[in-house]
Amino acid sequence: MLRIILDTDPGIDDALALFLALASPEVQLAAVTTVSGNVSVEQTTRNALTLLTLAGRSDIPVARGSAQPLVSTSIDAAHVHGANGLGEVDFPIPTLEPVTRHAVDLIIEMVMQAPGEITLVPIGPLTNIALAVRKEPRITERVREVVIMGGALRVPGNVTPHAEFNIASDAHAAHIVLHAGWPIRLVSLDTTTRAIMHRAQVEELAANGSRVTTAIRQMMSYYFEVFGPQHGNTDRFHMHDPLCLAAAFQPDLITWEPVYVDVELTGTLTQGTTVGYFNRPHTPAPNVLASVAVDTERFIRLYMERVAAAF
Ligand code: RIB
Ligand code: CA
Repeated sequence: MLRIILDTDPGIDDALALFLALASPEVQLAAVTTVSGNVSVEQTTRNALTLLTLAGRSDIPVARGSAQPLVSTSIDAAHVHGANGLGEVDFPIPTLEPVTRHAVDLIIEMVMQAPGEITLVPIGPLTNIALAVRKEPRITERVREVVIMGGALRVPGNVTPHAEFNIASDAHAAHIVLHAGWPIRLVSLDTTTRAIMHRAQVEELAANGSRVTTAIRQMMSYYFEVFGPQHGNTDRFHMHDPLCLAAAFQPDLITWEPVYVDVELTGTLTQGTTVGYFNRPHTPAPNVLASVAVDTERFIRLYMERVAAAF
């Protein structure tokens, strides 16, 4: 059983990742920690509680995290995910409450109490993770692995021509996390933009009419009908966060390559750009396993089978 802390900024694809975690017998979701990203941390926290309420899971602690990046000013992705972060769907008011502890303290406590057991899966900006490393550096020796959704190494960015949203949102946090010396798998746009769910597959998934699969269809309808058409896309949904979550418990869905990756902090046009030193001699030792290819068909089949069976 893989014990996971999901650090998240729901977010439509975050929601799909959360449902996959709940649907996967290999995963024990130890906690959900929230961060400002796609929308404010107040909203991402409410969204996490809403999603767990929908899934009938009152047993999983939710801890509210950072409200803004370490240094830079906040950016958001409400234009992608809707003002409420969940596709403007008017879900029932959550019946759950967050725990009183801050996300950073919960992460530190859980990792320190269970050496070698906890996998951190950050699928939003890395602010909480960076603060946890700074507050308790020993977590870098005790964490099992850190599986990050972020970066764009040999493909264009989605926030600027070269920067991906999670990294660009808090480049300073990403720099701390990338150089903390712990085991990292980096699930970047290089693979997540190939992990595509088509609208017909969403309709197939929602055919069982459950609360969760219906919620998935409703949220993704916003993407396919509002954001997508602005970019000539009415059919393809990039499964950024669900692929990252799947990579944590089934890494063989992805082809990995050890690479030294750094992040630009000072460039006016390039802040938040991740730079991967592929096949270059005389560079620093690799600090991540970078995702370079994905078995999309097997991943989407896994997603649909797991979630339809569980909800
Ligand atoms: O670039 C994709 C990432 O940014 C995903 O985590 C999505 O939820 C947004 O946060
Ligand atoms: Ca996210």
